[in-house]
Amino acid sequence: MRIALYPGSFDPIHNGHLDVIERAAHLCERVVVAVAQNIGKEALFSIEERVDLIEEATRHLDSVEVAAFEGLLVDFYARIGADAVVRGLRAVSDFEYEFQMALMNRQLSPEFETIFLMPSQEHIFLSSRMVKEIARLGGEIGPFVPEPVASALLARLRS
Ligand code: PNS
Repeated sequence: MRIALYPGSFDPIHNGHLDVIERAAHLCERVVVAVAQNIGKEALFSIEERVDLIEEATRHLDSVEVAAFEGLLVDFYARIGADAVVRGLRAVSDFEYEFQMALMNRQLSPEFETIFLMPSQEHIFLSSRMVKEIARLGGEIGPFVPEPVASALLARLRS
């Protein structure tokens, strides 16, 4: 596969996301990590901050690039000539939402393909929402996020 598109809110990126990016990078020539602007929920980090944090976390991966997108995912997919969207599937609880999104996107654009990758077991319980909650309540987030993300989170919550 040539171009895989990995979209998400990434508020912020965590080790589970990074695991999926690394797996996609093994399978594809190019991975475009796309940060959604209009996620319909209040983000802790701005779009620029989320892009910067992903760039720092993926610096070791030559074939990975990071972009922000606005509007429909199917339009961004067509614009960059993606071959498939990659999404991480952690547990059965993710399945219904992911299934609905994949089929709706295919309805909007018949060429749209979605490939699901499972992160390694140590990351399947991770979510950005939980990482933020743990940080807010003074818990240790070091094992769950890349170091620049941990620093950015602590700085944001202190301000
Ligand atoms: O990390 P998330 O929040 O689960 O990512 C969801 C995301 C950003 C991939 C999804 O909300 C999306 O594709 N948004 C762009 C707008 C769009 O195309 N909506 C219709 C999807 S069926």
